[in-house]
Amino acid sequence: MTIQDESKIRHDLLTPVNQIIGYSEMLVEDINKDGRTQYLADLKKITQAGRNLTEQINQLFKLSEVKTDTVPNTSPIPTEIINPENSVNDLTGKILIVDDIEENRDILSRRLKKRGYLYEIAENGKIALNKLTQEKFDLVLLDITMPEIDGYTVLQTMKADKVLRNIPVIIISAITEIDSIVRCIEMGAEDYLPKPFNATLLYARVQACLEKKRLLEQEKNYLSERLQTEATLERHRSLAQMVAGVAHEINTPLGVINTAATILDSRVNNKDISNLFSDNKEALEDIMEATDLIKRNITRAHNLVQNFKKISVNQTADIKESVNILDTIKESIELFKINARQANLEIIVQDNVKQSRAWLGYPGYLTQIIINFLTNIERYAYPNNKGGKVIIDLADQQQNNQAYFVITVTDFGQGISSENVAKIFDPFFTTGRMQGGSGLGLAIVHNLITSVLEGSIKVHSEMGKGTSFYITLPNNLS
Ligand SMILES: Nc1ncnc2c1ncn2[C@@H]1O[C@H](COP(=O)(O)OP(=O)(O)OP(=O)(O)O)[C@@H](O)[C@H]1O
Ligand SMILES: [Mg+2]
Repeated sequence: MTIQDESKIRHDLLTPVNQIIGYSEMLVEDINKDGRTQYLADLKKITQAGRNLTEQINQLFKLSEVKTDTVPNTSPIPTEIINPENSVNDLTGKILIVDDIEENRDILSRRLKKRGYLYEIAENGKIALNKLTQEKFDLVLLDITMPEIDGYTVLQTMKADKVLRNIPVIIISAITEIDSIVRCIEMGAEDYLPKPFNATLLYARVQACLEKKRLLEQEKNYLSERLQTEATLERHRSLAQMVAGVAHEINTPLGVINTAATILDSRVNNKDISNLFSDNKEALEDIMEATDLIKRNITRAHNLVQNFKKISVNQTADIKESVNILDTIKESIELFKINARQANLEIIVQDNVKQSRAWLGYPGYLTQIIINFLTNIERYAYPNNKGGKVIIDLADQQQNNQAYFVITVTDFGQGISSENVAKIFDPFFTTGRMQGGSGLGLAIVHNLITSVLEGSIKVHSEMGKGTSFYITLPNNLS
């Protein structure tokens, strides 16, 4: 008899014995709950007889020397689920049970159902692969020995697939089939489950696998969030650079136009020249008006260009110094006092700092940031001087062994639509073009905070309820 033949006979003999053990164990559990204890002793005898028979079969095939501790055990049993009666599972997950033997599927599915897991059944490898491509699963319990497409093939196909390779697989196998278990683990299976199924071990392994998958997914989500933030920052940086570049280019021709306009202005205002137009006063007035228009618009363009330049923060200069951050905030508000009075703004400062208020940073930039927020609140949150409340809250926070200040600027005004919230930090985005807004204020604020001040900025807004900007700044700049 070949080794393969021996292995097949052993498998065929063990399968019904394992079912006898599995069913009688489940009955024991049920009886314990129902209180029909008169059957308990007999059922325990059946279970024990099944175990003895397993032992004898293994002896017969001289395989009983295979020790359990030689089997790779990839997941220790978490202590909190050692007791199978501890019947709540806090991890939801959909499990695919793949086994060609009906009783095995039945025992596993009944066990999982008892614990509130969702499951699907596949009678063979082909159905399993079909289901896996059509539905989302969190775990696969996979039998190795199956006709046509066996467990190895299913495992191999799954590991070759970009999406399916992330679903953990627990191999269902007799403890004696050590070689198959090792082979599957080498192929990428997460763990194994010995037959006959032991309830404690089943729950432990299922729970451990689902937990591991959940943690992996959490990690992945965190990573993609971080990448997204970095991509947004990069987009802002390159836009800012472009704006500053354009501003620089425009500056030179603007200077030339300015010189030309000044010459024109001094000439038309010169008596000798204006006398030349004594026959045509109208023409002179036209020239003077046009000159004035050019001059005024050059000033406007010049101011805009100055703002464009500010967006690229390395074009502006401020002194790095250690200050009391609360004082800087209060001084900034003081600078805005006249506007605040006109616009009927009530500005409240809240101090929630528990440790130190010392900040090594750029107070000039912080003032610029606060005034930008207040100007926006005056213009957009409470337009037409209708007035309202503004709260500027200062707190501190510890994160990754670093101390941060958290400044929250809140208004209770008109709010920003979710469509606009996504764009407010983009240069040139404004809803106030008609009132002279250029859409650069928050772009500059964003750049200052994320580049020079090494902090972060977030916004939350609800239409009709108001807007909050959250800023974090490290206590000490590097
Ligand atoms: N507190 C706020 N409440 C409601 N909308 C706001 C608030 N702050 C900003 N916004 C919206 O965000 C847009 C962008 O603001 P940002 O400061 O960048 O530009 P701006 O104020 O329009 O122009 P600039 O600041 O260049 O003069 C504003 O046009 C406005 O729609
Ligand atoms: Mg603004």
